[in-house]
Amino acid sequence: MRTQVGIVGAGPAGLLLSHLLARRGIESVVLEARSREYVEKRVRAGVLEHPTVELLREVGLGERLDREGMAHEGVSLRFDGEEHRIDFADLTGRGIVVYGQQEVVKDLIAARLADGGDVRFEVSGVRIEDVTSDPVIHFDGGELRCDVVVGADGFHGVSRACVPHTAHDRQYPFAWLGILAKAAPTQDELVYAHHERGFALYSMRSPEITRLYLQVPVDTDADDWSDARIWDELHERLGTEINEGPLLEKGVTGMRSFVTEPMRHGKLFLAGDAAHIVPPTGAKGMNLAIADVRVLADALTTHLQDGDDTGIDGYSDTCLRRVWRAEHFSWWMTSMLHTDPAADAFDRRLQLSQLRQTVSSRAAATTLAENYVGLPHGSV
Ligand code: FAD
Ligand code: DHB
Repeated sequence: MRTQVGIVGAGPAGLLLSHLLARRGIESVVLEARSREYVEKRVRAGVLEHPTVELLREVGLGERLDREGMAHEGVSLRFDGEEHRIDFADLTGRGIVVYGQQEVVKDLIAARLADGGDVRFEVSGVRIEDVTSDPVIHFDGGELRCDVVVGADGFHGVSRACVPHTAHDRQYPFAWLGILAKAAPTQDELVYAHHERGFALYSMRSPEITRLYLQVPVDTDADDWSDARIWDELHERLGTEINEGPLLEKGVTGMRSFVTEPMRHGKLFLAGDAAHIVPPTGAKGMNLAIADVRVLADALTTHLQDGDDTGIDGYSDTCLRRVWRAEHFSWWMTSMLHTDPAADAFDRRLQLSQLRQTVSSRAAATTLAENYVGLPHGSV
């Protein structure tokens, strides 16, 4: 079997890349380890930044997003018992849309299949070889020869190991316990709460579903957290009215910053979480994955259709500029909002001072807002 672009992983990065390439007449095959049902149900990100929303609309994926997505014009930071709103619309003229990652994935799969795209699920044993000559992806039961291979297989995939790279890694001394609850949100916008007992985040998915997160110790077992304990802790840390309801999902997520440099080796290109991850506090992971494949779709188009390598040669450096901006923002939001078990009184006072300045100075609030709603693609 042969194709122009072999894509490993049907997450937002792999699927969107396949969609963008198809619009330019470039064929691809997407190989995914999990089942379609699994990837469509996997609850993860929820915040789409402005450039992501614009891109999805531009490429014909905005219909359900505009109907069901929840447009937000700000978020609140809560600390010292008070809530402070950061008004994105006023500070930047832009906003975000709350729309679950699995909804983006569902829309992308539906679009690929409707266009006759080749997305294969439950493909095991993927191995990538000969990336500096004639790339081939081996898998159980077959092989796929390609002009180029894209590793969009997430942080735990196989492709990163095929790229000689320097890894920049930082792990944080806390994790997030996330829940999805069948309960009507009481807030219109997200609330990021800094509290001495630990960070908490109020988010939502729909008028019936609330999404909430609690900072927990690194080695937390979600089963140690009964529903009652979770709700008590959320009430305590968020300090606002919260509707309780049956839990639909409960899971622990680690907090890590990781960047692979470079993001390319020969004819193998890494995109999204396969190349870099951020702690979730800045809501940047999926948005970065989408920004990568926008650059990559342009670069591969000129390479494959015109024989012009300028785009592919610049791919890694171009992406890494935006990646490092998001790495900084995510690290900054994480450090400002969490309670570090090793922090002393000096650290805690610095943190509070940073929070106060962020909500009281228009310049500081604008910096948060610009990064949160997403810097225009190509501007970083
Ligand atoms: P993935 O979505 O991980 O997709 C990779 C795919 O590759 C998967 O389907 C996987 O099954 C497949 N795969 C792996 N190995 C193989 C293999 N060997 N062979 C074939 N297939 C393979 N980001 C935001 O932008 N905003 C947020 O609000 C946000 N909140 C988050 C909250 C949580 C709790 C978590 C966990 C993450 C959050 N993120 C957020 C991050 C976001 O979910 C990721 O950055 C995003 O999924 C990256 O997309 P991707 O396509 O690069 O990788
Ligand atoms: C959500 C996740 C995040 O990481 C974040 O910063 C904001 C919202 C969410 O799942 O809704």
